[in-house]
Amino acid sequence: MKIQIINGPNLNLLGKREPEVYGKKSFDEYFQVLTEAFAQHEIIYFQSNSEGAIIDKIHEVGFDVDGIVLNAGAYTHTSLAIADAISAVSCPVIEVHISNVHAREAYRQHSYLAKNCLGVISGFGLESYRLAIQGLELN
Ligand code: DQA
Repeated sequence: MKIQIINGPNLNLLGKREPEVYGKKSFDEYFQVLTEAFAQHEIIYFQSNSEGAIIDKIHEVGFDVDGIVLNAGAYTHTSLAIADAISAVSCPVIEVHISNVHAREAYRQHSYLAKNCLGVISGFGLESYRLAIQGLELN
């Protein structure tokens, strides 16, 4: 399978950013582990802090890859435009969160994206990405 991982705003700071919430590992470090664990798949990684760039990436790959694993960060809770981009493309999208957003502030408990996604995984630390890939494998 060809799988695109997309990380949204502030996730470039994983490892440094609020480590008590998001852990001490950088995404690059974790991505290494992930690609070794799923050597049978082609896994591609993209990160952007900008909403438009995330939408452009969904458009670019969304008719080509077998699935997108998307952590849209705070845009999850604000972006109708990313929600529409998910609906526009043909591949399944899994929404992921490192933290358990349902155990956090009320404003993190609503997702504009979830309704247009195959499923949502939240709260398993970086291993949320592994579970999302397993979800795509089951699909
Ligand atoms: C997050 C949760 C969001 O509420 C937050 O804005 C993030 C990260 C997570 O992975 O837990 O940036 O998506």
